[in-house]
Amino acid sequence: MTDDRFTGDQAYLRGSQYRTPDKLADRQRLHTRYSTAPQKWFPWLVDQVPWCDGPIVEVGCGPGNFWEEGRPPVRGPITLTDLSAGMVEAAVARASAAGYTVGGHVAPAEQLDLADASAAHVIANHMLYHVPHPPDAVAEIARVLRPDGVAVVATNGERHFRETKQLEHAVFASRVVDRTAEAFGLTTGRPMLEAAFADVELIRFPDMLRVTEVDDLMAYLCSYPPIEDGDEHQIAELRSLVDAAFVAGDGVVEITKDVGVFLCRGPRRP
Ligand SMILES: C[S@@+](CC[C@H](N)C(=O)[O-])C[C@H]1O[C@@H](n2cnc3c(N)ncnc32)[C@H](O)[C@@H]1O
Repeated sequence: MTDDRFTGDQAYLRGSQYRTPDKLADRQRLHTRYSTAPQKWFPWLVDQVPWCDGPIVEVGCGPGNFWEEGRPPVRGPITLTDLSAGMVEAAVARASAAGYTVGGHVAPAEQLDLADASAAHVIANHMLYHVPHPPDAVAEIARVLRPDGVAVVATNGERHFRETKQLEHAVFASRVVDRTAEAFGLTTGRPMLEAAFADVELIRFPDMLRVTEVDDLMAYLCSYPPIEDGDEHQIAELRSLVDAAFVAGDGVVEITKDVGVFLCRGPRRP
């Protein structure tokens, strides 16, 4: 198995990694518990968007945390889409419980069953790096967005979680890069967006983690490849490196975050 399963292997993503919300929840818990920013990610993200009236589409919606935790001030009908049926089901339940009018369907972001220029906003939050050829999904987002609409595209930069990449490399000989940032990141994603939108604005989210519980960090690390398939010896070796990092930091492991959102306006028509 290679690292590349995380960035493009749709059968793996649909049938294993995101079949249920559980593995993503292990990662999101680390951010929720140990973020040092004054505002948590989803409320911050909501505050960056100049919301306008009209239908909203989210692609790669995951379990709907954006709606539950962000609570954007919108009234239009919402369409939640994802590659994984388990995610769509969870997202519709959460967004409905939060009081939104929602419909959901299973669809790859590259092929939405939605009319041209029909949405006031299209949201793609930390998902374009999973798409086998991200420009296809970016073109689909631009197709569905109204001329006066704003697409909201969030992703990671190259420095994201660089400390844990070193630990991972020591045990699994994996590359010391953020593969999400490589596939569609704050640097690599911009030209893809500029090919499809006249105006692309990047806003960075200043944050870092100060983690104090070994088990929370281990759960994060064990939620994705190659660590999720590590054998007993590899996991024990990783655990001893993580333990040592906590000792070196007097009980705290600091982790760099490199995250931001692109606001994209002026969809180009082919
Ligand atoms: C990291 S999660 C992010 C979920 C959600 N946007 C959030 O921020 O909590 C990535 C999501 O993208 C979905 N996904 C992966 N490839 C996709 C594709 N080609 N089209 C649509 N969704 C996809 C996964 O099933 C997963 O739910």
